[in-house]
Amino acid sequence: MQKIKVVLYGVGAVGSMIAKFLLEKDGIERVGAVDVAKDKVGKDLGEVLGINKKLGMKVTADADALLSQVKADIAIHATSSYLKDTFPQIASIVEHGVKVVSTCEELTYPYYTAPKFAKKLDALAKKHKTTVLGTGINPGFLMDTHVITLTAPCQKIEKIQAVRVMNAATRRLPFQKKIGAGLTVAEFKHKIKEKQITGHVGLEQSIAMIADALAWKLDKIVTESVEPVIADKTVESKDIKVEAGKVAGLKQKAKGIMKNREVIVLDFQAYIGAKEEYDAITIDGSPNIKQKIQPCVHGDIGTVAMIVNSIPKVIKAPHGLLSMKDLPVPSAAVEDMGKYISF
Ligand SMILES: NC(=O)c1ccc[n+]([C@@H]2O[C@H](COP(=O)([O-])OP(=O)(O)OC[C@H]3O[C@@H](n4cnc5c(N)ncnc54)[C@H](OP(=O)(O)O)[C@@H]3O)[C@@H](O)[C@H]2O)c1
Repeated sequence: MQKIKVVLYGVGAVGSMIAKFLLEKDGIERVGAVDVAKDKVGKDLGEVLGINKKLGMKVTADADALLSQVKADIAIHATSSYLKDTFPQIASIVEHGVKVVSTCEELTYPYYTAPKFAKKLDALAKKHKTTVLGTGINPGFLMDTHVITLTAPCQKIEKIQAVRVMNAATRRLPFQKKIGAGLTVAEFKHKIKEKQITGHVGLEQSIAMIADALAWKLDKIVTESVEPVIADKTVESKDIKVEAGKVAGLKQKAKGIMKNREVIVLDFQAYIGAKEEYDAITIDGSPNIKQKIQPCVHGDIGTVAMIVNSIPKVIKAPHGLLSMKDLPVPSAAVEDMGKYISF
């Protein structure tokens, strides 16, 4: 059966998890790995992934040289969150006629926050007869694609709300640090000001994707400031102990406003000690829809799955820059990947 030739572009925390998952997948041939981190360049990919075997493939910082040598079908791109950083990387992949699935949050729906990059990337992808998709668990699924799918049986919609609550105690230490767990309130505020903590990236993209799917012309998207969640008693994970009064994590909201009404509200909360973890969607309309996934979908597992499951859909998709709402209904690719691309 036909194998899909994959280049791994970015083998940090998420890229490594994707790479390890791809090692188990039939129908995938890894043809190269790119990263610029000094501790990774020149090393065997197996060593970078921390597995006990060599994979006979060295991580290179020279993406252009690699993409010129190997005939890749698709690059799995996982480096950073904003197109100001990722645009040149993705453009260089596209110029080699290689398709891209990326974890870049802004790329999931760049038409609102980065319309110029979106236009350029779409034109470039069409010129080079290739396809680009930004996806992940959130943005990419939980607060946008999934919400859009749930609107399908509605005749009328007044308001949509999506809430994601994560107990960060069950997540990786880097994630706990990213949400400020263990800091004092003053330290948290300082890090927010210095942009050392950015909170969740993607709420604006998710709102814009939902609104466009419904052809709602929003007056504006309002993003509220990222607020600390303060521990009311000592809470802990295996890596961090947060005393009462210190920051356990963060919460943030964004709202889509139309005709002076909040029509889309997204509420993201991640903190150590959250009693209940869930993803909940409420649609006020005809009919009303309420859905709750409990516990919430695990971010890392879900992101890896979203990226890998999107590979065959992107291989078969039309050329250009696409979003999740442009692809067929999302689904898992649990069998040999070749089965999903052969007609
Ligand atoms: N949509 C979603 O649901 C979702 C979910 C998870 C993660 N993400 C996003 O995915 C991105 C990757 O996450 P992560 O946790 O894996 O980050 P990470 O651990 O920082 O890994 C990124 C890797 O890419 C490397 N890199 C940076 N610039 C590069 C370039 N120009 N060329 C090649 N490699 C480059 C980094 O090297 P240096 O360390 O030297 O910079 C690092 O090794 C982040 O922006 C994250 O927010 C999205």
